[in-house]
Amino acid sequence: MNRDWANIRKDFPILNDTSHVYLDSAATSQKPQSVINAITKYYTNQNANIHRGIYSLSEEATMLYIASKEATASFINASSYRSIIYTRNATEGLNMSALLLENELEEGDEIVTTVMEHHSNLIPWMKLAQRKKCKITYVKVNEIGEIDMEEFKNSLNSKTKIVAFSHISNVLGTINPIDDICQIAKRNGAYIVIDGAQAVGHIPVDVGKYDCDFYAFSSHKMFGPTGLGVLYIKEELLDRFDPIFYGGEMVSHVALDEFKYNELPWKFEAGTPHIAGGIALHAAIIYLQEIGIENIEKRNLQLLQILQTQLQDLPYIKMYGTSPQKSSVVSFTMDGVHSHDIASLLDRDHICIRAGNHCAEPLVHSLSCNSLARVSLHIYNNEEDIQKLLISLKNIYHKLKNG
Ligand code: ALA
Repeated sequence: MNRDWANIRKDFPILNDTSHVYLDSAATSQKPQSVINAITKYYTNQNANIHRGIYSLSEEATMLYIASKEATASFINASSYRSIIYTRNATEGLNMSALLLENELEEGDEIVTTVMEHHSNLIPWMKLAQRKKCKITYVKVNEIGEIDMEEFKNSLNSKTKIVAFSHISNVLGTINPIDDICQIAKRNGAYIVIDGAQAVGHIPVDVGKYDCDFYAFSSHKMFGPTGLGVLYIKEELLDRFDPIFYGGEMVSHVALDEFKYNELPWKFEAGTPHIAGGIALHAAIIYLQEIGIENIEKRNLQLLQILQTQLQDLPYIKMYGTSPQKSSVVSFTMDGVHSHDIASLLDRDHICIRAGNHCAEPLVHSLSCNSLARVSLHIYNNEEDIQKLLISLKNIYHKLKNG
């Protein structure tokens, strides 16, 4: 269904208070009414624990939770919901990936990642490498914010066991050449772990096509609730790994001297999960599908181009990350003005942006910066939001420059 972009804001109640110009969707997206309704409906009419109750309310909640898993699997083209593990967020999914892969590594093995990663796709590998006495190679980023593919190819060797990279950079907005990276990593026999936090809900994602082993993302950046993430693991790998967490739900039989794992994916979800979150994520996926992910991608690209063109005209603004393959994230500096000052002065005009190192400190330092201002757009933004931002940025610069 093609949406009327002018009316899309009506779906997002927080934006009906027009004083908010929300330009921080890479940190978290706003939520449509249908997602808010799904949470309210669950707690109002459907609340029961899943899997355990021999009564219809519990059975209904279980069916809704499984339906959410099926919708998530189909949304990213996973072969089955058995591959879909719900976590707290993408960070937890990436940490789980590192822990699950621990036994696959031997001393002297190598992990390849990139300088553009979010801390959540860096620190778990740093800790793993420390524990297993492995080497990490960080592939550099070129002047327009793309992974240096020659360097990437050259960084792989027979000791490379894991390749971990982001689908889209949360700072540069670069959409990485995921097909090429996966093919090269696979040929080398490495496990592939992808941080998809900025991709799902913005561009089509197809884990079947990438043939990746792990793909982690967060519900709250794709119009769903906070506190819920998704870790896709390729189905054929799942029996190979022991779970990270133990307790109820993840076992089918327990005696005092033995236990048997539950079937997939429940083996990896110990304890009561975020049931309301799962159900609300399903509502978010339905919303995304109704609009159409290709339409979302196109709309965000349009907004990005408008913003980039306008910012280019301001000689005191420098943008970072200008790859033609880019999502609607623009990081920038303003001559002589700290990014924290930009963000707090914009806030006086009710404009919400993020400033700082964006949990990607090594990347920001590699750009010879300590801090960047970041605008991130989504389908509920419009040209008027961009105009308001531009007016405010001009005022900030001229006010500070002229004292
Ligand atoms: N990772 C999120 C961001 O980039 C929070 O803002």
